[in-house]
Amino acid sequence: MNVANGGAPLVAYHGIVWSGGVANGELFRIAQLQLRRGEVTVLRGANGSGKTTLLKILAFLLRPPGMRAVVAGRALSWRRARARLRSRLVYVHQEPYLFDASVTDNVAYGLLRAGVAAKVRAARVAGVLEWGGLGRLAGRNAKRLSGGERQRVALARARALRPEIILLDEPVSAMDAASRARTVQLIGQLRAAGAGVVVASHEKLDGGFAVDKFLHLQDGRLSVSDSDPLAP
Ligand SMILES: Nc1ncnc2c1ncn2[C@@H]1O[C@H](COP(=O)(O)OP(=O)(O)OP(=O)(O)O)[C@@H](O)[C@H]1O
Ligand SMILES: [Mg+2]
Repeated sequence: MNVANGGAPLVAYHGIVWSGGVANGELFRIAQLQLRRGEVTVLRGANGSGKTTLLKILAFLLRPPGMRAVVAGRALSWRRARARLRSRLVYVHQEPYLFDASVTDNVAYGLLRAGVAAKVRAARVAGVLEWGGLGRLAGRNAKRLSGGERQRVALARARALRPEIILLDEPVSAMDAASRARTVQLIGQLRAAGAGVVVASHEKLDGGFAVDKFLHLQDGRLSVSDSDPLAP
């Protein structure tokens, strides 16, 4: 996989309209949106504008009535699209859920579910923990990690699945400056390895990677730009 794959979208969504849980009508209405490998997209928007909701829709965790999905050029039902993209398209929650076991077991769990053989699993878990600078946490109970540590473990856990697209919801929100800088670098490495990355964030995220486009969610509409809406 490389950046040359970036041309055709892995998935295109049409008619993303979300009204769930919103008292005064519609949260947003987006005609269409595409996700590509090898591309970094930063999603901006005020609190409550719908960034998390949108990422969950893109990850097939929420289903907007009437939305159509085209996966690798083929129009599929929502259920089939979700099945086709399982583990190829991964959502990382802002406050990741980790279960009461070691960091190693938490990272290995998704691979176990995906049917990856034990030997391969162990090597891959060790690899992503190393990659994330988390080796010293490997044996720790994941329930007792700090917020920033949990976010980094969740990023490593997502990478272990080798997804084509990673959706990161405020991935550095609980991190100190050093962790944040490191994580921004890791995001750049994901892109360099050919993954598509969508980052919903309020942060500047300077230094680690080139941003291919900015999306701005505002007043129920999504606009696309080459420049950061946060820039002065
Ligand atoms: N499960 C839910 N039930 C009802 N309303 C919800 C639910 N989840 C989100 N909302 C509402 O939808 C709107 C968008 O929320 P969302 O979490 O997507 O915003 P956000 O842009 O991610 O905000 P933040 O920057 O604070 O993370 C908010 O008004 C929120 O209260
Ligand atoms: Mg959010």
